[in-house]
Amino acid sequence: MAKPQKHTARASAARVIAEVIQKKHSLNGVLTAALTSLPDNDRSLCQQLCYGVIRWQPQLEAISQSLLTKSLRAKDADIAALLLCGIYQLRDMRVPAHAAISETVNACKTLGKPWATGLLNASLRNYQRQHDEIEAKILQQESAQYAHPDWLIQRFKQDWPEQWPAILEANNLQPPMMIRVNKQHGSRQDYLTRMAQANIDATAIEVCSEGVLLDTPCDVFQLPGFADGDASVQDGAAQLVAQLLDLKPNLRILDACAAPGGKTCHILEQFPDNQMVALDIDPRRLLQIKQNTDRLKLNAELIASDAVDVDNWWDGQLFDRILIDAPCSGTGVIRRHPDIKLLRRPDDIATLAQQQQQLLNKLWPLLKPDGVLIYTTCSALKQENEEQVASFLQYHPEAQENAISPTPAERRSFGYQRLPGDNMLDGFYYASLSHR
Ligand SMILES: C[S@@+](CC[C@H](N)C(=O)[O-])C[C@H]1O[C@@H](n2cnc3c(N)ncnc32)[C@H](O)[C@@H]1O
Repeated sequence: MAKPQKHTARASAARVIAEVIQKKHSLNGVLTAALTSLPDNDRSLCQQLCYGVIRWQPQLEAISQSLLTKSLRAKDADIAALLLCGIYQLRDMRVPAHAAISETVNACKTLGKPWATGLLNASLRNYQRQHDEIEAKILQQESAQYAHPDWLIQRFKQDWPEQWPAILEANNLQPPMMIRVNKQHGSRQDYLTRMAQANIDATAIEVCSEGVLLDTPCDVFQLPGFADGDASVQDGAAQLVAQLLDLKPNLRILDACAAPGGKTCHILEQFPDNQMVALDIDPRRLLQIKQNTDRLKLNAELIASDAVDVDNWWDGQLFDRILIDAPCSGTGVIRRHPDIKLLRRPDDIATLAQQQQQLLNKLWPLLKPDGVLIYTTCSALKQENEEQVASFLQYHPEAQENAISPTPAERRSFGYQRLPGDNMLDGFYYASLSHR
């Protein structure tokens, strides 16, 4: 008899999802490792299952609870996750129902838990039978209806009393793929022509000078000249940041929270001879900046340090431009990182706001009198954004917030907020600060 396979798309997806839900590990990290042990033809299904199930987890969990008579034990989190995968396939994927059920049930054996085959088979068939009733029932719980944790729904409601349903909806959509054309290697128009020749349908993103929106996501190595640095993957909302820095030659620039280096590289692509100091607290993430600057043949001084610990890394020379792309809740990019819904806790927001405040306070004195500091986050919460800048200005009467033209997003009391999905871009906040 053939030995059962150790890794299949569904079993691997169940392991990954269980690790994210139970151990609070990041989806991207766990999934990347899992994909290496899968055959090529199973990888796409595994990835689709992981992202889909994590994106809809609050909804799928409510369905799963209505199917199980008692909760599964903590050590069977993989079986609980496999049930979510089964429900997801029946609801949202174009897998024939009989194949979805039989392959999901078979994955119990791959996971070394043949005892669970009966349970999964019965649960998935019950879901099919009672579909309408169960779906109507779960819609009565807000968390299931919007597929977000309750606390986050409340935060969005509080900050955006009118826009919150649209924000939640945008967070649940699959994100489009956007790239940035390296202007040092050619124009965006030329690159669009090369893409058309490679049969990749794409259009220019109006608000970004180097941005391109792909009709369908593709592997980066299919992009013309990707290995040679002709283009990079980056959402248009992130691309707007370099445009706000009023870049020109002969500037000394600090990118204080730089990894993985998307904005560092974009800034250098404007004027590669500018002096760039790129800092990150995480030495492993700093390596990603190195990979990116190497591919794009750009130069930055890379320093692993807590930016707040200025005595540890600063050589005493002021900066013309400072970018603080602050650590944040990521509530503007949930569509790209759906695990944020499961990994973030309500208390995190105050902790992050404190870190952001420290970064602003410690780095502000490093700005030249005629310099510009850009504070930005990929958060959609006011505490990390306009309230953060309001509080900074209150304690720094020598500082002012500048109007930005053309406006990168909707004007707020302080700074500019782009909510998730505005013009198809990620949610982002931008503020420009300088001396009075
Ligand atoms: C939003 S990400 C930056 C993304 C990056 N600017 C880009 O465009 O690719 C925030 C980064 O800040 C780093 N970080 C967090 N706290 C920090 C601190 N106190 N000092 C320096 N870096 C910090 C994190 O390791 C993380 O890489």
